Amino acid sequence: MLNFDYYNPTRIIFGKDIYKRLPEQIELVTASKKILLTYGGGSIFKNGVYDEVIKALEGFEVVLFGGIEPNPEYDTLMKAVELVKKENISFVLAVGGGSVIDGTKFIVSAAKYEGNPWDVLLRKEGSVFTDAIPFGTVLTLPATGSEMNSGAVISNSPLKEKRTMGGSFAFPKFSFLDPKVIESLPKRQIANGITDAFMHTLEQYLTYPTDNFLQERIAEGILSTLIEIGEKVIENPKDHVLASNLMWCATMALNGTLRAGVVYDWSTHMIAHELTALYGIDHARTLAIIAPSLYRIKSANKKEKLIQLGQRVFGLETPTEEMVVQKIESFFHAINIATRLSDYTEAYEGTAEEIKKRFEERNWLAMGERGDLTPDEVFEIVKMSY
Ligand code: NZQ
Ligand code: ZN
Repeated sequence: MLNFDYYNPTRIIFGKDIYKRLPEQIELVTASKKILLTYGGGSIFKNGVYDEVIKALEGFEVVLFGGIEPNPEYDTLMKAVELVKKENISFVLAVGGGSVIDGTKFIVSAAKYEGNPWDVLLRKEGSVFTDAIPFGTVLTLPATGSEMNSGAVISNSPLKEKRTMGGSFAFPKFSFLDPKVIESLPKRQIANGITDAFMHTLEQYLTYPTDNFLQERIAEGILSTLIEIGEKVIENPKDHVLASNLMWCATMALNGTLRAGVVYDWSTHMIAHELTALYGIDHARTLAIIAPSLYRIKSANKKEKLIQLGQRVFGLETPTEEMVVQKIESFFHAINIATRLSDYTEAYEGTAEEIKKRFEERNWLAMGERGDLTPDEVFEIVKMSY
């Protein structure tokens, strides 16, 4: 096991009928009764979450900021930064999915930053967020793990960019996870959530063995659970057992537990973000497009873990690497996630060239768990995924 530094200060409040505990949690963080509530395109007004949250927040002055898009947009978020400053906000409550939570992480960090916040996302020398206004979340879509981690992904459509940010200042103080929110999710979003959680687990598992027996078993437990419940929860989102297991899998897949002491490889995510930046494809689906090709091109690097995955999770006695990649694809197809770029856009010609060029410009020349994934291989992976 490699050395590691594990820190996670986010309190999770999980289960039914929990929002009444919101005031108690906010009061632990701020004495101010004025808070900003951030949300997305309005699903919270239709599914009752807003009403329940506002009822719980009786006695608070709640300033609203809505309109945070799926794949939250820099320009929109900067309007919220202005609002935070103007209203002198000292606590923000994000009510939504990964996009609202990520957007809020950006808002609370940029509000405390003197320079141009986009420079931080571009990793310009000397440009870093170091502080943030405290915030909490009410999660409405299990998928990203953003409710219990300190990362965020921010889009800038005019520039066709999607960039990451984060740091220990960006952990939520608390997150409320009521599995009931899954009831109102479109099937497509439930499938996205399953896929994103599955891929977060694989990114921290499908590398090479490092004697992390516990982390490997936890990862295999998450993958097996997602396979067991995936199709069922899409069909029966009102089933509390299925919904709560999906919700906790998604949180556990990206809250720091799986990465402790292991070698990880986030290159599927890094390549896939480019597909959202270029074509606006849902995050989870971009992962399902890239992962099979990446595992095929890098199968020699990932051989032992692919075989272990085949045996322990897919129950194959003597799998080949290809058989395991096909099992992964079959799982995505079973939950209605298409795995080819051409399933999502007709304008895919030239994508591999464009992504290779971007990676070269950013000096991302040696990615992957062994630092040997080159832009030429990225080109091949993207081309293979057409
Ligand atoms: O905007 P509203 O109206 O709320 O509708 C949303 C949105 O249209 C809807 N929705 C959410 N909860 C709902 C609901 N509809 C009905 N009932 C509910 N209970 O679902 C749509 C998608 O929401 P979004 O938040 O965009 O989805 P998700 O949670 O998958 O987040 C995706 C974003 O997170 C980033 C992705 O890149 C993408 O930008 N990620 C963040 C990560 C992190 N912070 O650690 C890691 C991930 O790998 C990922 O990159
Ligand atoms: Zn993801």
